Amino acid sequence: MKIIMLGAPGAGKGTQAKMIAEKYSIPHVSTGDIFRANIKNGTELGKQAKEYMDAGKLVPDELTVKILLDRVAQDDCKNGYVLDGFPRTIPQAEVLENALNELGDKIDFAVNVDVPDENIVRRMSGRRACLKCGATYHIEHIPPKQEGICDTCGSELVLRDDDKPETVQNRLKVYHEQTQPLIDFYTERKVLKTVDGTKDMKEVFADIIAILG
Ligand code: AP5
Ligand code: MG
Repeated sequence: MKIIMLGAPGAGKGTQAKMIAEKYSIPHVSTGDIFRANIKNGTELGKQAKEYMDAGKLVPDELTVKILLDRVAQDDCKNGYVLDGFPRTIPQAEVLENALNELGDKIDFAVNVDVPDENIVRRMSGRRACLKCGATYHIEHIPPKQEGICDTCGSELVLRDDDKPETVQNRLKVYHEQTQPLIDFYTERKVLKTVDGTKDMKEVFADIIAILG
């Protein structure tokens, strides 16, 4: 099963993608996580990506597309995957569609996690992320067992550099301009499913499972 998660920054794409990946035993592929791992390891890609990410802008398609196509070509993606944060522009969606077409394949579901802008900024300031394993927490809604420490791998949790309120506003603007058009793109492909992302995360997950089957 090949699934795309759509939604504004902070809508809960990562939170839901992790649970989907576990339930269906498919990899969770997040371009944001890949970039953050590269930044943490000080790679050339990380240096280039950080500039854009800290400004709340998109990393250019040239850098992003190759990374994603390389990742989904790996063996563990043979039986499907859940993409989180990709595609984010129409050109990215077209590249993915063409690459899948060549394999006689296609995306099965594009799950749109719908959360109004008003809810987003509040969520982001409470988010804490593990840069080692990609786990995400929220200081009020989904706290870790021990404050500041990742339940999964024991690493220190941080507030992401791009979760400052002014950067979040920028990310929302970029989302509406460049990513929201994908809702029409996948509606036309008849694979778009929208869930109400303002519900409790377990309810959102139940709604998604009902769709995926
Ligand atoms: P990326 O890492 O993808 O960030 P994003 O899309 O801005 O999304 P987030 O990770 O911030 O939010 P999310 O929807 O995953 O929400 P989460 O589950 O964490 O990208 C970062 C940057 O990298 C981009 O800005 C760009 O620069 C670059 N980039 C990445 N991919 C790219 C691409 N393809 N092309 C170009 N550039 C790219 O949840 C948010 C918070 O809410 C958490 O604290 C969570 O615990 C909490 N929460 C989740 N669900 C609920 C709920 N139901 N109720 C209450 N709280 C909840
Ligand atoms: Mg995320």
